[in-house]
Amino acid sequence: MGNFEALKDGQMADTASEGRSCCGVNIKGVSSEQHSSTKHSSTKKSCCPFLRWRTQIIFGLLLVGFLIGLGIAWQSWSAPPTYAPPAKRPLHDAPFVPTPHDIVAEMLKLAEVGPNDVVYDLGCGDGRIVIAAAKTYGCKAVGVDKDPKRIAESRANAEKEGVQGRVQFIQDDIFNIDLSPATVVTLYLLPQLNNALVPQIEKMKPGSRIVSHDFDIDGVKPQKVLRVESEEDHREHTIYLWVTPLKKIGEFDLP
Ligand SMILES: C[S@@+](CC[C@H](N)C(=O)[O-])C[C@H]1O[C@@H](n2cnc3c(N)ncnc32)[C@H](O)[C@@H]1O
Repeated sequence: MGNFEALKDGQMADTASEGRSCCGVNIKGVSSEQHSSTKHSSTKKSCCPFLRWRTQIIFGLLLVGFLIGLGIAWQSWSAPPTYAPPAKRPLHDAPFVPTPHDIVAEMLKLAEVGPNDVVYDLGCGDGRIVIAAAKTYGCKAVGVDKDPKRIAESRANAEKEGVQGRVQFIQDDIFNIDLSPATVVTLYLLPQLNNALVPQIEKMKPGSRIVSHDFDIDGVKPQKVLRVESEEDHREHTIYLWVTPLKKIGEFDLP
Protein backbone atom coordinates (compact mmCIF):
# COMPACT_ATOMS: atom_id res chain seq x y z
CA MET A 1 0.00 0.00 0.00
CA GLY A 2 1.30 3.42 -0.87
CA ASN A 3 1.46 6.20 1.69
CA PHE A 4 -1.53 7.93 0.21
CA GLU A 5 -3.78 4.84 0.50
CA ALA A 6 -2.65 4.10 3.99
CA LEU A 7 -3.50 7.60 5.07
CA LYS A 8 -6.91 7.35 3.51
CA ASP A 9 -7.49 4.22 5.54
CA GLY A 10 -6.39 5.91 8.71
CA GLN A 11 -3.47 3.52 9.10
CA MET A 12 0.26 3.84 9.24
CA ALA A 13 0.05 7.35 10.55
CA ASP A 14 3.67 7.34 11.57
CA THR A 15 5.01 6.28 8.25
CA ALA A 16 2.53 8.53 6.53
CA SER A 17 3.94 11.53 8.36
CA GLU A 18 7.23 11.01 6.62
CA GLY A 19 7.65 12.68 3.32
CA ARG A 20 4.41 14.57 2.93
CA SER A 21 2.81 17.57 4.66
CA CYS A 22 5.31 19.20 6.90
CA CYS A 23 4.83 22.59 8.52
CA GLY A 24 1.96 23.43 6.23
CA VAL A 25 3.84 22.43 3.06
CA ASN A 26 2.22 19.78 0.96
CA ILE A 27 4.48 17.10 -0.32
CA LYS A 28 3.62 14.21 -2.52
CA GLY A 29 0.06 15.50 -3.06
CA VAL A 30 -1.23 15.06 0.46
CA SER A 31 -3.39 18.03 1.39
CA SER A 32 -3.06 19.54 4.83
CA GLU A 33 -6.70 18.81 5.46
CA GLN A 34 -6.20 15.13 4.74
CA HIS A 35 -3.10 15.12 6.76
CA SER A 36 -4.62 16.73 9.83
CA SER A 37 -7.64 14.44 9.80
CA THR A 38 -5.27 11.50 9.55
CA LYS A 39 -3.22 12.74 12.42
CA HIS A 40 -6.29 13.10 14.57
CA SER A 41 -7.62 9.70 13.91
CA SER A 42 -4.41 7.75 14.22
CA THR A 43 -1.92 9.28 16.66
CA LYS A 44 -1.11 12.34 18.83
CA LYS A 45 2.49 12.51 17.66
CA SER A 46 3.67 15.53 15.68
CA CYS A 47 3.61 15.39 11.92
CA CYS A 48 7.35 15.34 11.36
CA PRO A 49 10.58 14.76 13.25
CA PHE A 50 11.50 18.44 13.00
CA LEU A 51 8.30 19.51 14.77
CA ARG A 52 8.78 16.81 17.37
CA TRP A 53 12.33 17.92 18.06
CA ARG A 54 11.29 21.56 18.18
CA THR A 55 8.56 20.78 20.67
CA GLN A 56 10.96 18.74 22.75
CA ILE A 57 13.63 21.47 22.68
CA ILE A 58 11.09 24.13 23.71
CA PHE A 59 9.76 21.89 26.42
CA GLY A 60 13.31 21.13 27.60
CA LEU A 61 14.23 24.83 27.73
CA LEU A 62 11.09 25.65 29.66
CA LEU A 63 11.86 22.87 32.11
CA VAL A 64 15.46 24.05 32.59
CA GLY A 65 14.24 27.65 33.11
CA PHE A 66 11.65 26.48 35.58
CA LEU A 67 14.23 24.46 37.52
CA ILE A 68 16.69 27.37 37.63
CA GLY A 69 13.93 29.69 38.86
CA LEU A 70 12.93 27.15 41.47
CA GLY A 71 16.56 26.89 42.63
CA ILE A 72 16.93 30.68 42.95
CA ALA A 73 13.65 30.97 44.84
CA TRP A 74 14.67 28.14 47.16
CA GLN A 75 18.01 29.78 47.89
CA SER A 76 16.42 33.10 48.74
CA TRP A 77 13.87 31.45 51.02
CA SER A 78 16.26 29.14 52.79
CA ALA A 79 19.45 31.27 53.07
CA PRO A 80 19.71 33.23 56.33
CA PRO A 81 19.67 37.02 55.79
CA THR A 82 23.14 38.46 55.62
CA TYR A 83 23.79 41.79 57.29
CA ALA A 84 26.89 43.24 55.74
CA PRO A 85 28.42 46.03 57.79
CA PRO A 86 27.52 49.35 56.20
CA ALA A 87 30.18 50.53 53.82
CA LYS A 88 32.41 53.16 55.37
CA ARG A 89 31.04 56.53 54.52
CA PRO A 90 33.26 58.36 52.08
CA LEU A 91 34.58 61.13 54.26
CA HIS A 92 36.51 63.99 52.88
CA ASP A 93 39.47 64.81 55.01
CA ALA A 94 39.67 68.27 56.47
CA PRO A 95 42.41 70.34 54.85
CA PHE A 96 45.10 71.92 56.98
CA VAL A 97 43.82 75.26 58.27
CA PRO A 98 45.43 76.24 61.56
CA THR A 99 43.41 77.53 64.50
CA PRO A 100 44.62 81.02 65.49
CA HIS A 101 46.76 80.85 68.65
CA ASP A 102 44.36 82.95 70.74
CA ILE A 103 41.49 80.60 69.81
CA VAL A 104 43.66 77.60 70.78
CA ALA A 105 44.09 79.23 74.21
CA GLU A 106 40.30 79.71 74.49
CA MET A 107 39.63 76.08 73.52
CA LEU A 108 41.95 74.74 76.23
CA LYS A 109 40.46 77.16 78.78
CA LEU A 110 36.92 76.09 77.92
CA ALA A 111 37.93 72.43 78.39
CA GLU A 112 39.43 73.36 81.78
CA VAL A 113 42.62 71.50 81.00
CA GLY A 114 44.81 70.74 84.02
CA PRO A 115 48.21 69.10 84.58
CA ASN A 116 46.70 65.63 84.97
CA ASP A 117 44.85 65.71 81.70
CA VAL A 118 45.79 63.87 78.56
CA VAL A 119 44.84 66.01 75.56
CA TYR A 120 44.36 64.46 72.12
CA ASP A 121 44.15 66.73 69.08
CA LEU A 122 42.61 64.75 66.23
CA GLY A 123 44.01 66.18 63.02
CA CYS A 124 46.81 68.07 64.77
CA GLY A 125 48.20 70.01 61.79
CA ASP A 126 51.40 71.75 62.89
CA GLY A 127 50.89 70.57 66.49
CA ARG A 128 49.95 73.95 67.94
CA ILE A 129 47.12 72.73 70.21
CA VAL A 130 49.19 69.81 71.54
CA ILE A 131 52.19 72.05 72.16
CA ALA A 132 50.09 74.79 73.82
CA ALA A 133 48.44 72.24 76.14
CA ALA A 134 51.79 70.76 77.20
CA LYS A 135 53.45 74.15 77.55
CA THR A 136 50.67 76.06 79.32
CA TYR A 137 49.26 73.31 81.57
CA GLY A 138 52.18 70.89 81.89
CA CYS A 139 49.98 67.97 80.82
CA LYS A 140 50.61 65.16 78.39
CA ALA A 141 49.29 65.65 74.90
CA VAL A 142 49.02 63.58 71.76
CA GLY A 143 48.58 64.79 68.19
CA VAL A 144 47.26 62.59 65.36
CA ASP A 145 47.47 63.47 61.70
CA LYS A 146 47.51 61.33 58.60
CA ASP A 147 49.73 63.75 56.73
CA PRO A 148 53.43 62.88 57.32
CA LYS A 149 54.45 66.47 56.57
CA ARG A 150 52.25 67.72 59.41
CA ILE A 151 53.68 65.15 61.79
CA ALA A 152 57.27 66.12 60.93
CA GLU A 153 56.36 69.80 61.37
CA SER A 154 54.66 69.10 64.72
CA ARG A 155 57.70 67.21 66.05
CA ALA A 156 60.02 70.02 64.97
CA ASN A 157 57.74 72.63 66.61
CA ALA A 158 57.53 70.61 69.84
CA GLU A 159 61.30 70.46 69.98
CA LYS A 160 61.57 74.20 69.36
CA GLU A 161 59.15 74.85 72.24
CA GLY A 162 60.96 72.37 74.53
CA VAL A 163 57.94 70.13 75.20
CA GLN A 164 59.03 67.02 73.30
CA GLY A 165 59.11 65.01 76.57
CA ARG A 166 55.37 65.49 77.19
CA VAL A 167 54.02 65.18 73.70
CA GLN A 168 53.60 62.43 71.17
CA PHE A 169 52.67 62.67 67.50
CA ILE A 170 51.10 59.75 65.69
CA GLN A 171 50.83 59.54 61.93
CA ASP A 172 47.53 57.74 61.39
CA ASP A 173 43.89 58.15 60.49
CA ILE A 174 41.94 59.59 63.38
CA PHE A 175 39.34 56.81 62.98
CA ASN A 176 41.96 54.22 63.98
CA ILE A 177 42.70 55.88 67.29
CA ASP A 178 41.64 54.50 70.67
CA LEU A 179 40.56 57.51 72.68
CA SER A 180 40.34 55.72 76.03
CA PRO A 181 43.59 57.26 77.41
CA ALA A 182 42.37 60.79 76.54
CA THR A 183 40.58 63.06 79.00
CA VAL A 184 40.31 65.96 76.56
CA VAL A 185 39.84 65.80 72.79
CA THR A 186 40.21 68.83 70.57
CA LEU A 187 38.83 69.04 67.03
CA TYR A 188 39.04 71.36 64.08
CA LEU A 189 37.67 69.12 61.36
CA LEU A 190 34.69 69.03 59.04
CA PRO A 191 31.17 68.52 60.49
CA GLN A 192 30.75 65.05 58.99
CA LEU A 193 34.09 63.99 60.51
CA ASN A 194 32.93 65.22 63.93
CA ASN A 195 29.71 63.19 63.53
CA ALA A 196 31.61 60.08 62.50
CA LEU A 197 33.80 60.34 65.62
CA VAL A 198 30.85 59.92 67.99
CA PRO A 199 31.27 56.13 68.45
CA GLN A 200 34.92 56.68 69.47
CA ILE A 201 34.03 59.59 71.78
CA GLU A 202 31.33 57.51 73.44
CA LYS A 203 34.01 55.05 74.61
CA MET A 204 35.83 57.77 76.57
CA LYS A 205 35.75 57.90 80.35
CA PRO A 206 32.85 59.82 81.90
CA GLY A 207 33.73 63.45 82.50
CA SER A 208 36.02 63.70 79.46
CA ARG A 209 35.75 66.95 77.54
CA ILE A 210 35.50 67.45 73.80
CA VAL A 211 36.07 70.89 72.32
CA SER A 212 35.50 71.66 68.68
CA HIS A 213 36.49 74.75 66.79
CA ASP A 214 33.69 76.05 64.54
CA PHE A 215 31.90 72.74 63.95
CA ASP A 216 29.09 71.15 65.90
CA ILE A 217 28.19 67.46 66.30
CA ASP A 218 24.73 66.65 64.91
CA GLY A 219 22.19 65.48 67.45
CA VAL A 220 24.46 65.93 70.47
CA LYS A 221 23.80 68.76 72.87
CA PRO A 222 26.87 70.88 73.68
CA GLN A 223 27.33 71.92 77.28
CA LYS A 224 28.66 75.31 76.24
CA VAL A 225 29.00 77.30 73.05
CA LEU A 226 31.42 80.20 73.03
CA ARG A 227 31.82 82.86 70.37
CA VAL A 228 35.14 84.67 70.39
CA GLU A 229 36.67 87.16 68.02
CA SER A 230 40.29 86.37 67.23
CA GLU A 231 42.80 89.19 67.29
CA GLU A 232 44.80 87.29 64.69
CA ASP A 233 42.26 87.07 61.89
CA HIS A 234 39.52 89.39 63.27
CA ARG A 235 36.91 86.74 62.67
CA GLU A 236 34.38 85.42 65.12
CA HIS A 237 35.09 81.79 66.00
CA THR A 238 32.70 79.39 67.66
CA ILE A 239 33.91 76.85 70.21
CA TYR A 240 31.70 73.96 71.31
CA LEU A 241 32.16 71.98 74.52
CA TRP A 242 30.70 68.54 75.23
CA VAL A 243 31.27 66.41 78.32
CA THR A 244 30.96 62.62 78.25
CA PRO A 245 28.64 60.79 78.40
CA LEU A 246 27.26 62.68 75.40
CA LYS A 247 23.74 63.99 75.68
CA LYS A 248 21.84 63.04 72.56
CA ILE A 249 19.29 65.74 71.73
CA GLY A 250 15.80 64.45 72.43
CA GLU A 251 16.88 61.70 74.79
CA PHE A 252 17.37 63.84 77.86
CA ASP A 253 15.33 66.93 77.09
CA LEU A 254 12.07 65.70 78.55
CA PRO A 255 9.88 68.53 79.89
C1 LIG B 1 41.76 72.16 59.94
S1 LIG B 1 43.27 71.33 60.27
C2 LIG B 1 43.39 71.54 62.02
C3 LIG B 1 44.80 71.52 62.54
C4 LIG B 1 44.90 71.75 64.06
N1 LIG B 1 44.08 70.84 64.80
C5 LIG B 1 44.50 73.16 64.40
O1 LIG B 1 43.39 73.35 64.91
O2 LIG B 1 45.28 74.08 64.13
C6 LIG B 1 42.83 69.63 60.04
C7 LIG B 1 43.95 68.62 60.08
O3 LIG B 1 43.40 67.34 60.16
C8 LIG B 1 44.14 66.43 59.37
N2 LIG B 1 43.21 65.36 59.01
C9 LIG B 1 42.07 65.45 58.28
N3 LIG B 1 41.44 64.28 58.21
C10 LIG B 1 42.20 63.39 58.90
C11 LIG B 1 42.06 62.01 59.18
N4 LIG B 1 41.01 61.32 58.73
N5 LIG B 1 43.00 61.41 59.91
C12 LIG B 1 44.08 62.12 60.37
N6 LIG B 1 44.24 63.43 60.13
C13 LIG B 1 43.33 64.07 59.41
C14 LIG B 1 44.64 67.25 58.21
O4 LIG B 1 45.81 66.70 57.67
C15 LIG B 1 44.88 68.61 58.87
O5 LIG B 1 46.21 68.74 59.28
